[in-house]
Amino acid sequence: MITSPWEGVPTVAFGGDYNPEQWPREVWEDDVALMRQAGVNMVSLGMFSWVFMEPEEGVFDFGWLDDLLDLLHAGGISVDLATPTASPPAWFYHAYPQARVRTRDGVPLPLGPGSRGMASPNSPEYRTAAVRIATELAKRYADHPAVVMWHVHNEYGAPVGEDFSDNAAREFRLWLQRRYTDLDGLNEAWGTAFWGQAYSDWSHVNPPGPTPSVPNPSQSLDFARFTDHQLRQCYIAERDAIRAHARQPITTNFMANECPTTDLFAWAKEVDIVSNDHYLTAADPQGHIGLALAADLTRSVGGGKPWIMMEHSTSAVNWQPRNVAKRPGEMARNSLGHLARGADAICFFQWRASRFGAEKFHSAMLPHAGTDSRTWREVRGLGTTLGEVGEIAGSTVRAQAAILWDTESHWAQSLQWRPSVDVDAKERIRAYYERLWRDGITTDFAHPESDLSAYRLVVAPASYLLTDAAAANLTRYVAQGGTLVVSFFSGVVDEHDAVHEGGFGTPLREALGVSVEEFLPMRSGERAALSWPEPDGGVRELPVDTWQEAVITHGAQVLATFASGPAAEPGYFQDRDAGAGTPAAAAPDGDSAPGSAGGAAAGDGRAGTEAASHGMPAITRHSHGSGTGWYVATKLDVEHLAPVLGAAYADAGLSPSTLPEQVEVVRRHGSGSDYVVILNHSHVGATVPFESGAHDLLTDAPLSGPLDLPAGGHAVVRVPVPDSPEVD
Ligand code: GLA
Repeated sequence: MITSPWEGVPTVAFGGDYNPEQWPREVWEDDVALMRQAGVNMVSLGMFSWVFMEPEEGVFDFGWLDDLLDLLHAGGISVDLATPTASPPAWFYHAYPQARVRTRDGVPLPLGPGSRGMASPNSPEYRTAAVRIATELAKRYADHPAVVMWHVHNEYGAPVGEDFSDNAAREFRLWLQRRYTDLDGLNEAWGTAFWGQAYSDWSHVNPPGPTPSVPNPSQSLDFARFTDHQLRQCYIAERDAIRAHARQPITTNFMANECPTTDLFAWAKEVDIVSNDHYLTAADPQGHIGLALAADLTRSVGGGKPWIMMEHSTSAVNWQPRNVAKRPGEMARNSLGHLARGADAICFFQWRASRFGAEKFHSAMLPHAGTDSRTWREVRGLGTTLGEVGEIAGSTVRAQAAILWDTESHWAQSLQWRPSVDVDAKERIRAYYERLWRDGITTDFAHPESDLSAYRLVVAPASYLLTDAAAANLTRYVAQGGTLVVSFFSGVVDEHDAVHEGGFGTPLREALGVSVEEFLPMRSGERAALSWPEPDGGVRELPVDTWQEAVITHGAQVLATFASGPAAEPGYFQDRDAGAGTPAAAAPDGDSAPGSAGGAAAGDGRAGTEAASHGMPAITRHSHGSGTGWYVATKLDVEHLAPVLGAAYADAGLSPSTLPEQVEVVRRHGSGSDYVVILNHSHVGATVPFESGAHDLLTDAPLSGPLDLPAGGHAVVRVPVPDSPEVD
């Protein structure tokens, strides 16, 4: 199996997208010389060059590319050669106007050439043209010594994802026929008995276009699956065309958590090495935490193997409302942030800043200001740093905690007419991730149906759609000793977006000891609180907003109750039998309070007399088998998740970091040595303890004591195994 171009080579690849067709040939030689100066050892080439490779249909011109590859090779620079299919030439759209994507509102794109974006992923003409150019490239360059990797397309799903063309309608029907065999199967899966939508003929079935009221959610969910599938088929067709001639590893650049139309756990199975693009969001003041999330997700979809940071920016991007320049030192911290979380290659968009076109205000490795610039000096500095840490390549990250990630669930949750527009899967994932990050706990992302046995703690911040198989997997995980923390609005629907029989939360009832009788979403801006018992016997009020629920316990211990808000109103208990549910004294699992949290009452079908006077259960804990299932029935912010997750860590046997919160420490495990990457995101210096035997790779000196890191500083330290400090 082909995995990485650098298998066994102690090198971190460094470089970026190179768009030489925007420059006269004289500049190419300068480029190579400057690349060498900066320590660049790989560039990605060709992603927007289709019209230069094939100026007319079936007429190829590779002379310029031959010269360029030879020039780069002579300069010792490897090439990740791209297929150019993210941007078909004007001649293609002229010849095949029917191959254009059509928007949901019926507008064909492009209306004329003049931008970029693939043609319809459902168009046979596009598929043929894409495979043809991929084949020509592979035949010509399979044996070129500069080409170490193939890069299919560019960012599938952006800017083109959904397509509502006639081609799409035809392919959607075929896809549905394969999935459901006959119309009875389709009608049942889509619940077409509702609003009289039953189909009697396949030709009546269409993509979910504009509708008078909201479209059928099951149909919309299947259309999201179909869209992902069709994009992936485009990738697979090009990949197979290359593989027919070439041996180098093949990738396509993902957009981790940013791409709404691709299910990366499925995509990662199709690439030889995972690669990702990540850009900071200026509006996010903690962008480095979003970066860490994207990096952890990228590593996780690839099964933990080293991956490629294919594109990030040296400074500002150009496509946000306010494009904030990176502060001095930030680019290096960002790059090492990806490296820390498993990247073996650090690349940028792009090598040389474009003088014209839509991206001329985007930063680059070589900025408009040239080599006498801060960016260039920092780029050279980064090249040196990556050269010094080459031995980290091939080492891997091991996480003891995982957050569940299921793209299908996110698709389903984001459809219309949900109980509250304020409930957002990605917001909850980020909040829980950020809590774990601030606590210094390295986290994987895991699909809910995957093997979770390696993790002490599994967090489910947004498992709205949960299949029976996933629920059984999570229940087994708890029974076998795991600690599971589930956030509200989880376990609600099955794979067809139909509510689970038995009501909300039913699939996880065994693991969590609760079910949910009714959702109680809150008004915009409404604030409330829950009562959280402190270890000293006091009670702390934690603020909540957005959401509460009427939680019914089935054996779970109630740790916190709602102090105010809809679930604190006494009426919820009025029509319940006093003896309903499992009596506290006979609670089968004998739940007792963990670490810091004292229990309010054990399961009696309600919150118990004392707790009831304070409202319905807000946070519960349940022993199942040899593990524990937690349920959090409301939205807590990152700060106030701290005591709750702190108590869950105690169950899981995890210790949060004692370093200051903005000092990020991640460990990569190698053979013989581990590597600890430290990034100080704070404005003050920090001290990080190390045992003897540690070696600072950037100063190439043994550490004779704790490492002092200035504000904004970074370090990479080799530590011996197994006597190294317990930092994940
Ligand atoms: C994406 C694309 C690049 C470029 C950058 C700009 O990642 O792949 O071609 O447009 O955005 O940030």
